[in-house]
Amino acid sequence: MITEVVKITELTSEAYSDLDRAAEIIKHGGLVVFPTETVYGLGGDATNPEAAGKIYAAKGRPSDNPLIIHVSTPAEAEKYAYTGELYYKLAERFMPGPLTLVLKAKETVPKNTRGGLDTVAVRCPENVIARELIKRAGVPIAAPSANLSGSPSPTTARHVLEDMSGRVDMIIDGGEADFGLESTILKIDGDVATLLRPGKITKSDLEACIGTVEVSHAVTEALAPGERVLSPGMKYRHYAPKADVVLIDGRAESACDYINDAGIMDGTAIIAYTEDIPVFEATFPTVRIIDFGSRDNELEQAHRLFALLRDSDREGLTRIYAPLPSKEGIGLALYNRMIRAAAYNIVKLK
Ligand code: TXA
Ligand code: MG
Repeated sequence: MITEVVKITELTSEAYSDLDRAAEIIKHGGLVVFPTETVYGLGGDATNPEAAGKIYAAKGRPSDNPLIIHVSTPAEAEKYAYTGELYYKLAERFMPGPLTLVLKAKETVPKNTRGGLDTVAVRCPENVIARELIKRAGVPIAAPSANLSGSPSPTTARHVLEDMSGRVDMIIDGGEADFGLESTILKIDGDVATLLRPGKITKSDLEACIGTVEVSHAVTEALAPGERVLSPGMKYRHYAPKADVVLIDGRAESACDYINDAGIMDGTAIIAYTEDIPVFEATFPTVRIIDFGSRDNELEQAHRLFALLRDSDREGLTRIYAPLPSKEGIGLALYNRMIRAAAYNIVKLK
């Protein structure tokens, strides 16, 4: 398959005609990668079971891992899921935006799309290219992140090309993803809301809107072997670069001592907050130090994380030390992705 790449920076008439062609591809059961405000999505017609099959094949993803369906307005979810009071409260406050709600599914969603579950994940993205594409396709778009299964979600069209060239019909290049980590996923079951994946919309944002939110323990902990999970995606190793990642819970000075003791190798690198770079550079003048953004700027860190992990593979890094994020606010989203990238390898120095 030859993959066509189109670049859209503004919604000009040329862009609209590209989007019309992309929508035709979706309607005919093909695959289009499109930008969202979180990460790039690998889209197909959510109502077409064959399209879901193609998505799983393109990603190399097990077909028991369900897909998020993307709608262009919150009300469109009615056709595919049983909504309710909590849904509309959240939709009014956070949609369109980086929030995915898991609801009881209607029969209109093919089993294949929802990985055989009786629930379905619904999201109304904020990115205008994404929304125009869904509107033009006239169907909801099922889309996982547009990476090969196991590698970090793509935040640029270059990342998408690395993984998806020759596997999809079209890639829409809409520039760098704004946030850079995947959407917050919240499961709604009657009046109980459970956070399955943290993102830009934080637990306290959600609680300010609907009251108490439970947090699935899989957000911050490794699963027990064979454990059943609420979100099938949690059981697969994720975001894993080729290098061993070690997360350090402690100040830069103690991190230096620890790294020194562990020994520097050829492929060692250190991901550091901007403020800590001078300390690391002074101690390890020959080691590659990667700027993670300012300590308090979690939006910047979220924006950089997946690109850093991908670059580390291209540079052939074998060992990466990085700071352990806090579990507060957007920190929880970073924490959740980074403990997986590190295969739960955390060193506590405090
Ligand atoms: O930001 C995002 O959410 C991106 C963009 C493209 O929208 N999409 C994304 O999709 O991250 P994906 O498939 O890579 O991650 C979705 C996660 C998976 O871990 C999946 O298991 C879980 O959502 N999921 C989907 N449907 C579910 C359901 N019915 N119940 C529980 N978990 C579900
Ligand atoms: Mg994914």
